[in-house]
Amino acid sequence: MNIVILAAGQGKRMHSNLPKILHPLAGKALAAHVIDTARSLSPQTLCLVYGHGGDMVRTTLDAPDLAWALQEPQLGTGHAVQQALPHLKGAGTTLVLYGDVPLIQADTLKRLLHAAQDALAILTVELADPSGYGRIVRDAGGRVVRIVEQKDATSDECRIREINTGIMAMPTGRLGEWLGRLSNDNAQKEYYLTDVVGMAVETGVAIRTTHPGHEWEVLGVNSKVQLAELERIAQRSTAERLMEEGVRLADPARIDVRGELICGRDVFIDVNCVFEGTVHLGEAVEVGPNCVLKNARIGSGTRLAAFTHIEDATVGADGQIGPFARLRPGTELAEDVHVGNFVEIKKSTIAAHSKANHLAYIGDAMIGSRVNVGAGTITCNYDGANKFQTIIEDDAFIGSDTQLVAPVRVGRGATLGAGTTLTKDAPADTLTISRAKQISIPGWKRPVKTRK
Ligand code: UD1
Ligand code: CA
Repeated sequence: MNIVILAAGQGKRMHSNLPKILHPLAGKALAAHVIDTARSLSPQTLCLVYGHGGDMVRTTLDAPDLAWALQEPQLGTGHAVQQALPHLKGAGTTLVLYGDVPLIQADTLKRLLHAAQDALAILTVELADPSGYGRIVRDAGGRVVRIVEQKDATSDECRIREINTGIMAMPTGRLGEWLGRLSNDNAQKEYYLTDVVGMAVETGVAIRTTHPGHEWEVLGVNSKVQLAELERIAQRSTAERLMEEGVRLADPARIDVRGELICGRDVFIDVNCVFEGTVHLGEAVEVGPNCVLKNARIGSGTRLAAFTHIEDATVGADGQIGPFARLRPGTELAEDVHVGNFVEIKKSTIAAHSKANHLAYIGDAMIGSRVNVGAGTITCNYDGANKFQTIIEDDAFIGSDTQLVAPVRVGRGATLGAGTTLTKDAPADTLTISRAKQISIPGWKRPVKTRK
């Protein structure tokens, strides 16, 4: 079986410098959805016909298993498939997909391919408003005789409500001959792939029609309005799948998964959360409202409070993160770590049972177990040119408003007094304090304003 994905069209109505098929849907290029679905059917050849947006399309989507066929100029869907012919192998079936119809499901395609054994199979739907589409013309016995494009159709044909979705499968062995016979003698002066249907009928090849599992699978993207409509459909279907797997969503209409979200049992996700890349949520994780998680792994029982932002980071089990916490790339928290509001952590590890509950910046640090990081603590990890590491050993207590000028080490069980600017290592089990001594000056007067 071969699959050809047509993706040479321009997409003028997107009004964008980005080629249409590269626009993101659920965090992934439109054509990448089609490629992934096609790949799941294990075709012998997977060929993309490209044209508009040429190099950018090819470099963005390229993968070792893809064959590329350039269509330049674009003379119609039949002409497009013709460009792929040199790549098509074997006596089996060739399935034609569209790069701008991203939500097509593998189950639907399997049924179409099944119908295409020794036949030409067309994926069709009946629409209340069929305008713009090619119509499926049947004879009195209900047999398909041809497809007519709207622009070439008679007014009777225009009343047909069964339309060509554009997705079809046919015997590879016949394709070369049929495509070679196409003419562009029609209203659009294009080589229509749909004309092979009439040829198949003439040569006695059976025509079968199948239908998609859901009507939305065959919706195409021609504008930003349609892109947004398909985004909602894709998100709704992801939300439903999550709920069927046992995830509790505060509102299935207010979650956006732009990648892969893998959840354990009894996960709860509040409203307006965005998940990007690959995110793993362990058992009974609770995600508060308005959280953004990208490429993150959250351990079981952990609670992420509202407005938590996590990227390329891992959080251990039974943690409490947020509200308003920011875990940046390279953050690794062990179990039962508490990270509170307005705490930013970057490229740091924090061992079990440690806390940084208020207003802190922890960068390039290694923090042990049962450490308390006081409010306003800052690791001064950057001298304007290079980054340096801070090490805080187990059971240390970092007083509020401390600056740790890296590279620096705080020994096990050490205490730093509030307001300390630590420039040298602090010994274990000792109070280190760098504050000037507090004095009170009797009789001191506040300055007064000088009269002008
Ligand atoms: C096509 C079908 C029509 C069907 C409709 C469904 C033909 C002649 N008509 O019409 O029956 O109802 O799709 O949406 O096939 N493409 C190329 N190269 C080309 C032309 C198109 O790669 O030269 C690609 C486009 O990028 C797109 C797909 O083929 O992915 C369909 O092209 P489009 O122009 O949308 O086809 P329609 O004329 O709408
Ligand atoms: Ca179209």
